[in-house]
Amino acid sequence: MRAPIVFTGLALAASAHGLNVLITNDDGFGTANIRAMYSAMTELGHNCYIVASSSDQSGQGSRLIFTNDATLKSASEFGIIASGSPSLGQDPHDDHIWYYNGSPATQILVALDHVLPQHANFSVPDLVLTGPNYGLNIGPFLYGISGTLGATQTAIERGIPAIAFAGAYGKHTAYYDIQASTSAGLQDPATIMGRLAATLAQAFIDKASRANHTFGGRVLPLGYGVSVNLPLISSFTDDSCVNPPFVRARMTGGGEFTSKAVYDSATGLFGSANYADAGTSMCINGDCSLPGETEVVSGCKSSVVLFTIDYDAPYGTSNLSDPYAALLPDIVQLNNATDLVGGLGVNASVQGSAGSSNSSSSASTKSGAGRVMLDTFLSRAAMVAGIVVLAMAL
Ligand SMILES: *[C@@H]1O[C@H](CO)[C@@H](O)[C@H](O)[C@H]1NC(C)=O
Ligand SMILES: *[C@@H]1O[C@H](CO)[C@@H](O)[C@H](O)[C@H]1NC(C)=O
Ligand SMILES: *[C@@H]1O[C@H](CO)[C@@H](O)[C@H](O)[C@H]1NC(C)=O
Ligand SMILES: *[C@@H]1O[C@H](CO)[C@@H](O)[C@H](O)[C@H]1NC(C)=O
Ligand SMILES: *[C@@H]1O[C@H](CO)[C@@H](O)[C@H](O)[C@H]1NC(C)=O
Ligand SMILES: *[C@@H]1O[C@H](CO)[C@@H](O)[C@H](O)[C@H]1NC(C)=O
Repeated sequence: MRAPIVFTGLALAASAHGLNVLITNDDGFGTANIRAMYSAMTELGHNCYIVASSSDQSGQGSRLIFTNDATLKSASEFGIIASGSPSLGQDPHDDHIWYYNGSPATQILVALDHVLPQHANFSVPDLVLTGPNYGLNIGPFLYGISGTLGATQTAIERGIPAIAFAGAYGKHTAYYDIQASTSAGLQDPATIMGRLAATLAQAFIDKASRANHTFGGRVLPLGYGVSVNLPLISSFTDDSCVNPPFVRARMTGGGEFTSKAVYDSATGLFGSANYADAGTSMCINGDCSLPGETEVVSGCKSSVVLFTIDYDAPYGTSNLSDPYAALLPDIVQLNNATDLVGGLGVNASVQGSAGSSNSSSSASTKSGAGRVMLDTFLSRAAMVAGIVVLAMAL
């Protein structure tokens, strides 16, 4: 078995026998995958809490959606919690498992700022694990769309190391439907995915410990995260893919997918489809020789991607030795300049024409403010793509 771990670092010192681990997902607190990962981590000796959505919150990215209702307006997914129950509460059978009626990113905040300090014997987890998501989270566009990755990103922003897991199997299953043995005589795919996730998480924990707390006693350095995609586990029917190896990959490259709009003339509605395009195939950061996630997971392999939440353009790792100087026009000045020039120009006039001012100006100020908030929200996802568009335009 694994070597004994000596915890002397800051965060890893929180528990002598295991880490304090927060687990969430975007598929709901009652799904098989999250419960299997929770069980596998608990069996490894970690002090685990689930705080996850009462029902499916897929595709919410890192949106913050707190409910305005004190009680659930309908029963939770799989009917585990009855309609009319509090919007935040415990699982009826396990007081380490909590649900909240909100988006995945809010689960992290509600856990850190309420559930853990109030109800656990720790406040700040050593590690956050998310998923395993039902359906792959492949390609960088899912960094902005996937609730699993949105929660992961939110945890990292709060300073906590986090690992996101997703799996190719897409049909939501309740935890109480996990089979002890499938018709093929194998463990349930959820059980196998939970074990794979816990095994990899433990390997990161052991590695950080063995590295003499290179990261200040943290499982990952501040600002770093990991995104893992597991292939389709075949154990419902056969053993062709039940023990996939973990393989290094990168989030962009290898013709990774983004989305396209697909119009259905019969309904007059749009849907989305995967679409491979140049914007998701570039390499700006990281190791450009690594395969993309799609390529890895299409075999019976799990892709493991290391990422950071620093979206700033790298200085000197692209083929532009100084991307700031090469891409930013002179109108964008240094903050410490003594002679900052206004964005409209040195002697710009903002004088209105005589007699034209009326009450509509206040309304346009309000919509202007809304626009700024929207732009801020969109800018995270657009940042990387925007830089590429700029580079191509030059
Ligand atoms: C917190 O509780 C867990 C079990 O729930 C236990 O293993 C651990 O030792 C406790 N930690 C502290 C600091 O009391
Ligand atoms: C870790 O610490 C041990 C004992 O203090 C030392 O012998 C070893 O070289 C260290 N390893 C690293 C990678 O710093
Ligand atoms: C720099 O990278 C861009 C985008 O990948 C590419 O089009 C261009 O040819 C490269 N320039 C050089 C000098 O390598
Ligand atoms: C002004 O800021 C730039 C970029 O942050 C820095 O390189 C430069 O040294 C600063 N100049 C002074 C005088 O502080
Ligand atoms: C701005 O106005 C000042 C003072 O009126 C004038 O000296 C200067 O030339 C003007 N600069 C430009 C760029 O028009
Ligand atoms: C207010 O200004 C707008 C834009 O200049 C104009 O279209 C509108 O007719 C004006 N309304 C009134 C009541 O003067």
